[in-house]
Amino acid sequence: MKGVIFNLLQAVVTEAHGDDVWDDLIDQAGASGAYTSLGNYDDAELEALVAAACEKLGLDRGAVLRWFGQQAMPHLASAYPVFFEGHAGARTFLEGINDIIHAEVRKLYVGAECPHFNIQNAPGDRMDMDYLSSRRMCALAQGFTEGAARHFGEDIDFEHLTCTERGDPHCTFRIAWPLNPPVHA
Ligand code: HEM
Repeated sequence: MKGVIFNLLQAVVTEAHGDDVWDDLIDQAGASGAYTSLGNYDDAELEALVAAACEKLGLDRGAVLRWFGQQAMPHLASAYPVFFEGHAGARTFLEGINDIIHAEVRKLYVGAECPHFNIQNAPGDRMDMDYLSSRRMCALAQGFTEGAARHFGEDIDFEHLTCTERGDPHCTFRIAWPLNPPVHA
């Protein structure tokens, strides 16, 4: 995993809990703590940091990854404003995840192995998205998606229709924009 993801984790942990907590996570995980954005580090090292955060914060892996993704989005928006410009909302931003965002990421960070998302069944008020990655970080994808919606001032409903954590062959998300709430008499 690219160092930029470790840098983001450090940024959100220190922002919410302070430098000391980050130092504790590094110790607990037996991690190096020194990450350059372009460097490549073992996925296991990120998992060890996430596991240390679970213990420290009393959360499970999914909750930590989701929180990380939500909190990371404002940092991504200031580091990569170009990815956010020109979008009226999260929908078109998400539609460009494979061919624009992660395509550029692979050029900037040579060797990045970004997940792939198959977008389907996307009428106006919802979008289904398969998450394809061997890393099992669907909760991070959920957090990034929720963070992106928040960035654009939108409320979304995010549902895991299928999930590898439940034994399904892959994860499918249903993201809904409840634009037309039912009118009650
Ligand atoms: C400004 C926007 C974004 C940037 C700059 C960005 C960049 C990156 C980078 C650098 C990686 C690490 C890849 C590697 O080291 O091999 C990554 C991984 C990942 N990205 Fe993005 N990303 C962005 C938006 C998103 C969004 C909106 C989603 C979800 C819908 C997403 C989902 C993920 C996930 C889940 C991973 C973890 C790796 C995996 O699951 O295999 N990203 N991204």
